[in-house]
Amino acid sequence: MRRIVFDAYGTLLDLTAIMARVRAVTEDRGEEFLALWRQKQLEYAFLRTIMGRYAPFRQITQDALDYVLERFGLRVNPSERERLVNGWTAAEAFPDAGPALKALRSAGWSPLILSNGDPMMLQASVAHSGLLPLLDDVLSIEDVHRFKPDPRAYQIVLDRYGGTADQVTFVSSNGWDVAGAVAFGFTVFWINRTHTVLEHLNLPPTAQLTSLTELTRQLL
Ligand code: LAC
Repeated sequence: MRRIVFDAYGTLLDLTAIMARVRAVTEDRGEEFLALWRQKQLEYAFLRTIMGRYAPFRQITQDALDYVLERFGLRVNPSERERLVNGWTAAEAFPDAGPALKALRSAGWSPLILSNGDPMMLQASVAHSGLLPLLDDVLSIEDVHRFKPDPRAYQIVLDRYGGTADQVTFVSSNGWDVAGAVAFGFTVFWINRTHTVLEHLNLPPTAQLTSLTELTRQLL
């Protein structure tokens, strides 16, 4: 069976719903706040991997939030803080995600997720999005305590299902994840949802697309 592995947040799951929760505490600085929150969340994941100091993604998300609140000089009460962090499990599926997963499945592909999210957070997110029945597996990097783009995180797919890296098709909207998956040897499709530029890491994807609908057109 041909395996197709998806990143979760930003690729299948749309994080824009978090913005409403962010605006409730930041008012007009929402975009700047959310951008820094996401940047810090990734930075902490990468730093913890380099330092060998794993913490679950939900914890990292919370730590990154606390950092940004402090930087912005904002105070929130515990329930507001909880509501912000829970925004990650309240993300909706992108409109093109369900139809793409269905089309791929009917064409004989086996779709799964490989995410930096910890199992509890990830299960809650995927269940909330309604995509769970369309996926054959939801893999978290939790077992190896190393976040993507560490090669040990991508290796989870091969350890679970066998085969070689070049037999796996990997799909992500995140530039850093695309570079990591290409470095690992996967065949990679970059879903450039935000029309941004390629990371300058000299690890280009097999193809750059703008939506999962386009991905199905390429593969089916
Ligand atoms: C994921 C996020 C972090 O791994 O994009 O699902």
